[in-house]
Amino acid sequence: MRIAVAYSSKKGLQKEYRKHLEEFLFDQEEEPPPSDFFAEGDSECTINAVMEAFRSKGHTVCGVEADDEAPVNLARSRPDMVFNIAEGLFGDFRESYIPMVCERLGLPYSGSGPLTLAVCLNKERTKEILSYHSIPNARFMTVSPNEKINLDGFKFPAIIKPVAEGSSKGIFDDSVVDDARTAKKRIVEKIRKYRQPVIVEEFLDGREFTVAAWGNGTGFEVLPIISISYDELPSNARKIYSYEAKWVWDTPEKPLDIFKCPADLTSKEKKLIEDTVRKTCAVLGVKDLCRVDIRFDSKGVPNVLELNPLPGILPNPDDNSCFPKAARTAGYNYPDMLDNIIRIAAKRWGIGKESENRRTGERAAKKSRKSK
Ligand SMILES: Nc1ncnc2c1ncn2[C@@H]1O[C@H](COP(=O)(O)OP(=O)(O)O)[C@@H](O)[C@H]1O
Ligand SMILES: [Mg+2]
Repeated sequence: MRIAVAYSSKKGLQKEYRKHLEEFLFDQEEEPPPSDFFAEGDSECTINAVMEAFRSKGHTVCGVEADDEAPVNLARSRPDMVFNIAEGLFGDFRESYIPMVCERLGLPYSGSGPLTLAVCLNKERTKEILSYHSIPNARFMTVSPNEKINLDGFKFPAIIKPVAEGSSKGIFDDSVVDDARTAKKRIVEKIRKYRQPVIVEEFLDGREFTVAAWGNGTGFEVLPIISISYDELPSNARKIYSYEAKWVWDTPEKPLDIFKCPADLTSKEKKLIEDTVRKTCAVLGVKDLCRVDIRFDSKGVPNVLELNPLPGILPNPDDNSCFPKAARTAGYNYPDMLDNIIRIAAKRWGIGKESENRRTGERAAKKSRKSK
C-alpha cells in the first residue's frame, strides 16, 4: 500500500507557534510559552520509526507535515491511506485538521474522524457525552477566563486541568488541591498560562489504568489493560500521572517502573473495565484505535478520565508509551502493531484486494494511453 504518514513534528509546531505569534498576537505582550507547550509534537525518532516500520512491512511510505502545505502535498501524492498522528498546536480542531483535509480530498485515513477528535480533545464536552450515556466519570465544573469562580458545594480534593490539552500538559503535581482557596488560586494561574477554560474535577483516589483498544464494530478488541502504580514516584508526590511523572521523572535513561501489563485484576474488574471502554468508544464514535484512561472511584467503579483517539505511539519500549506497550503484551511488535492499525482502517474503508486491482488497472490503462 502507498501510505502517507501525517505528523506534527516538534520543528513543525515551533514554526506554527512563530506564525501564530506574527498573525494573531503582534500587538500583545507575549509571555514565553509554558515549558510543556510542545509536549505533543512528534519527535524525528518517532516519525522515522513509523515510516521505517511501514517500509519493513512492504509499504511505500512518504511523510507529510500537518502544516499549511499538507492539503497540496496530500492531493499531489494521493496515497492509498493516510496514517494520521498529527496533533497540531492551536484551536479546537487542531487534531481534526488532517481528517478534514482527507475527507475533502476523498482520501482514506486511519483513526477517528474530525468530530470525534475535536470532542475528545475537549474534556468538558467528552464528559457531558459520557454522563448522558450514564458512563461513570468524576463530578466536574469548568471555569472560563474572566468568569466568577464559585466552588460552593464542590468536594475536595480536586484536580484542575486545562480543558483541552493532552500529554499531561498543564497537569503538574500542584494541579491537585485540597481546599477552595488553593483551588481558586490555581484556576486563575492555569487559565492565564494555558489561555483556555479549566476543568475542575473531584479527585478519584482509586487505582488507575490506561486501556488500549482497536478495531471497529464487532471486531472491536480491548488490548491487555495497563495499571499505573504511584509507588515509584517521589514520596511526597501526588498520586497522579502528571507532567513530571510522564516526562521529567520518567526518562529512557532511567525509566520509571510504574506500569504493569497485564494489570492485576479480578475477572469481574477486568470485565467492568473492558465493558466501560467498549461503551465509551462506541458513544464517542471512535474509529480504528484509542486509549482510554480509567480510574476507580472509592467504591471500585471504573470512571473514565479521558479518551485518547490519537494515542502516543513512541517506538522505544523504554519511553513507556502505553498503546505500543499494550500491543506488545498482546504479541504485536512495533511494525506488526502499525500494520494492524492500517489493516483495521483499510477494512473500514473497504480497501483491499479491490483497490490493488483498481490500481493495477489504472497503471495498465495509463501505460496503454502512453503507448498510443
Ligand atoms: N478526576 C481525577 N481524579 C484523579 N486523578 C485524575 C483525575 N483527572 C486526571 N487525573 C490524573 O491526571 C492524569 C492526567 O489527566 P488526563 O485527564 O488523563 O489528562 P491528559 O490528557 O493530559 O493525559 C491522569 O492520568 C490521572 O493520573
Ligand atoms: Mg491521560
